[in-house]
Amino acid sequence: MLARISNTKALHWLGRQLLNRDNPAAWLDPLAETINPMWVQEYTPARVERIVAETLDTKTFVLTPAKRWAGFKAGQHVNICTDVNGIRRTRTFSLSSSPLLWESQGQITLTIKRLPGGLITNWLHDSLEEGDVIGLTEAFGDFLIPEPAKPLLYIAGGSGITPILSQLETMAAEDYRAPVTLLYFVRTQNDVIAREALTALAERWPALTLYIIATDEDQAPRYLKDSDLESVAGLKARQVYLCGPKGLMDLANDLLDKRGVKESQIHSTFFAPPAQAQLDRGQLGGEVTFTRSDLNVGSEGDACLLEIAEAAGLKPQHGCRMGICHQCSCRKTSGTVVNRLTGKVSGPGEETVQLCVSVPQGAVVLDV
Ligand code: FES
Repeated sequence: MLARISNTKALHWLGRQLLNRDNPAAWLDPLAETINPMWVQEYTPARVERIVAETLDTKTFVLTPAKRWAGFKAGQHVNICTDVNGIRRTRTFSLSSSPLLWESQGQITLTIKRLPGGLITNWLHDSLEEGDVIGLTEAFGDFLIPEPAKPLLYIAGGSGITPILSQLETMAAEDYRAPVTLLYFVRTQNDVIAREALTALAERWPALTLYIIATDEDQAPRYLKDSDLESVAGLKARQVYLCGPKGLMDLANDLLDKRGVKESQIHSTFFAPPAQAQLDRGQLGGEVTFTRSDLNVGSEGDACLLEIAEAAGLKPQHGCRMGICHQCSCRKTSGTVVNRLTGKVSGPGEETVQLCVSVPQGAVVLDV
């Protein structure tokens, strides 16, 4: 009898290890990776179907994600997960295709510029090949087309055009009924991404007015000017969407403010960490309680909740670590936090916070 019980227990134990019921992917994925990488469970695998050169330093990757991927809205981002030099890396990129391509053909595109010294972008450009498989997270982000339709002004710089391409394709296909102006800034005419697609959009969709402005080709280099805004009809009634280098976005915010466009009309998305607000470090820090992990830890200065959790040995889910992807969002049940990027102070009660940009101001309790 004893022997029978031991054998049964041993079989159950072995079964649990094989299936690893808490996290089956940990056991099965290495096997799946060798048999068929599209079976991996930890993330959504996506096969590279085609790679298209857009400019000297920008390529579009046409991907077919596994069918279980949940899709996206125009203007959203995904994290890609891939092993580079044996280390798992995650980076955030905008989807450049319309959701309609995913719905009709099961494909998406990412248009990615090679960044000087950028580990992942250089790897994508130099090593990723057609037929390879990379990992995708679900899509995220709130840089979305307004509903119902409102007059829009887009101001894009360089590869900041990518989420806007997705939106323009979608709006043209759905016959968006409000004026849309795009001011697209590039260094030279050779740096225009998706020129043919943009020109074709402007030809077939009368709502779109397109300006491509090369900043370095005139004798006196130029950037966004007040006169560019002056030529946009009904500017004060438009929703403005900004995507590009920080210098362009700061300048645009400044000029728009002077022209009376309200902050609430301006929507931005970032490719680089946004600037941090000036915080009074003396006012920050406090005891953080992670209720699900049954852990209390103290903190000082401007350490964010994600850093505090990781220093305590926890591994909360996260992506970009800069307040963009919302993957680190979790429930705060009590306490006050300060947003590192905006300096905004939360209320004391229950609400969702982003761990990577929230700094405790006194005792905070989290459902983590
Ligand atoms: S990790 Fe992306 S918003 Fe926090």
